[in-house]
Amino acid sequence: MSLERVVEVIERSGELPTIGAVAAEVMRLAGDPSADFGKVAAAVENDPSLAAKVLRLANSPFYGLRGEVASVERAVALLGMAQVRNIALSLSLIRDFSGSYGGETFRWDRFWEHSAGVALIAETMTRLLRLPVSGTEYAAGLLHDVGKILLGHHFPQEFGRCLDLAARRQVSLWEVEPEVFGTHHAELGGWIAERWGFPTPLRSAIRYHHEPSDAGEEHEVAAVVHLADLFAKVKQIGFGGDRVAVCFSDDPAWALLVERQPHLEDLDLARFTLQLDQEVEMARALAKLGREP
Ligand SMILES: [Fe+2]
Ligand SMILES: [Fe+2]
Repeated sequence: MSLERVVEVIERSGELPTIGAVAAEVMRLAGDPSADFGKVAAAVENDPSLAAKVLRLANSPFYGLRGEVASVERAVALLGMAQVRNIALSLSLIRDFSGSYGGETFRWDRFWEHSAGVALIAETMTRLLRLPVSGTEYAAGLLHDVGKILLGHHFPQEFGRCLDLAARRQVSLWEVEPEVFGTHHAELGGWIAERWGFPTPLRSAIRYHHEPSDAGEEHEVAAVVHLADLFAKVKQIGFGGDRVAVCFSDDPAWALLVERQPHLEDLDLARFTLQLDQEVEMARALAKLGREP
């Protein structure tokens, strides 16, 4: 097989996944510094089941606002637009994909826990490490492995074989997929991101999350998502199909970031790791709530 062949099978099936209005709006605006996110809040309000979930989460112990948030507008005032946008994006995307799409090969609840974890960590990392903010970190984290959903849905047997191979060799899916598909989930993710009309930094982070040094201009988001992905694996947040042992500071993506941001050299990695711990519970809550009808 090859990327072209995989894409052909997906296109022919007529079952290209679609994303809902809220998620599409957030993705379109991602990375645009002058974006009007008021439109996102309005779109959330137009979607009663999504609005109800956003309010449930805003009133949960995570934010210490128990019972105070009665409307999306109020949530924006209390938590800030970025926070509400991220919650709405996670919940709507997970809902869009939680039907039958994706097939039976994979534990998709664990998959979304992993994806939400990577999104939260990517954004927190950007803030804690004082990296330049592109605005696409969260969305890129949430969708970095979207190619796996496509492979799992359209090629359940072949994808199942990849999972077996990765488990047997204790390596990541990305390393074994080319043997079976002639391509891998990052390349396929890049294709669907383009098909969905995502902005360039977002596309590039999805496409290069395993090879951030090839991402060119946009390599910082790709490197951040790459490290957030490693981190989620170390912390065992959810399960994205990979079985690997990782060491954060030995990773080339870390060297890539340090090269651009010399202040990272002095970072206390152990402390930084602890600071990211609280994202674990939040990722679980998002994955669980997102999958509820
Ligand atoms: Fe991946
Ligand atoms: Fe991943």
